[in-house]
Amino acid sequence: MAVSSLTIPKPDDWHLHLRDGSLLKAVIPFTARHFARAIIMPNLTPPIVTSDQAKAYRERIRQALPEGMTFTPLMTAYLTDTTQPDDLKRGFEEGIFVAAKLYPAGSTTNAENGVTDVQAIAPLLETLQRIGMPLLIHGEIATPDVDFFDRETVFIDRVLIPLRRGFPELKIVLEHITTRHAVQYVASESQNSELAATITPHHLLLNRNALFKGGIRPHHFCLPVLKRETDRLSLIEAATSGAPMFFVGTDSAPHLRTTKESAQGAGGIFSAPTALSIYAEIFEKAGALEKLEAFLCLNGPLFYGLPLNAGSLTFEKEEPEALKPILTEENVEIIPFLPFMSESNSGLSWRVKEKEPL
Ligand code: NCD
Ligand code: ZN
Repeated sequence: MAVSSLTIPKPDDWHLHLRDGSLLKAVIPFTARHFARAIIMPNLTPPIVTSDQAKAYRERIRQALPEGMTFTPLMTAYLTDTTQPDDLKRGFEEGIFVAAKLYPAGSTTNAENGVTDVQAIAPLLETLQRIGMPLLIHGEIATPDVDFFDRETVFIDRVLIPLRRGFPELKIVLEHITTRHAVQYVASESQNSELAATITPHHLLLNRNALFKGGIRPHHFCLPVLKRETDRLSLIEAATSGAPMFFVGTDSAPHLRTTKESAQGAGGIFSAPTALSIYAEIFEKAGALEKLEAFLCLNGPLFYGLPLNAGSLTFEKEEPEALKPILTEENVEIIPFLPFMSESNSGLSWRVKEKEPL
């Protein structure tokens, strides 16, 4: 008999954009309702570079949390060419920073201040390795010679493999992986618990045809961009394997509707309201619901050396429902992924009951 209710420990989101100001206020309830903790991306304008900036941002996140909701933001440092190793170390030791984020310059939204030459930040990497602070990597090369769809593959071969040779004990998360190549590389290093990868709901659900279905689809545009069906199938295999080096990271990245529906639309998919339902649906279709707990709740804390969450979260099957746009205080719309869950789903869908206790 098909399962219609499912209870797991409270999950975490190991890759999340919460933004700031009124956008932060509009989106934070959707994450806090479902997840106990999240790794918060630092690509604000200006970016969160120093431990003082991260501390102040963490406070703004806490202030934006609706009354009665519990949620723990885990802060990251945006690495630049001039980041000071001492500040990273202090921030990590004081419990402000949980990890450091490497954006190759120009690789994605607000990555202009990212690192221009990974070799030139060797002292930073050496510090991270020494103090056991994880390095989270946006794994794309954004130079004009590299085809847009090859950015991740070329990054792994040209940058990541040499980097790991130089710093074999550095804890690394290759974030939001999108290709079979990435899956195979991470899986092939499984003897080494220093390397892990996160996988988003949208890369599990869609391939790149979705970008053009019936016309250009800005709400399916994210970075790294969607890839081939063969890549998607590899990602599903990795996520549903239960292997400890693959875990959840929604990469929920809200942009205003006007910023996405534009001649130069921004990359980023706002999936916080639906991410858990999509993961559950994918795992069920793969016949691997029993592996959902490892992917959502166990593998991430294990990698980060953090305790498992107390409390649980229950999914139930319900009729799919059209999602409405979210509104900011200024009445500007943000379109959640997918606007219509039924686009992905012809039957019943897994709906999250609020996590317990609130
Ligand atoms: C993210 C954003 O909008 O900040 N965009 C995205 O497409 N995922 C940046 C990122 O994580 O690459
Ligand atoms: Zn992201």
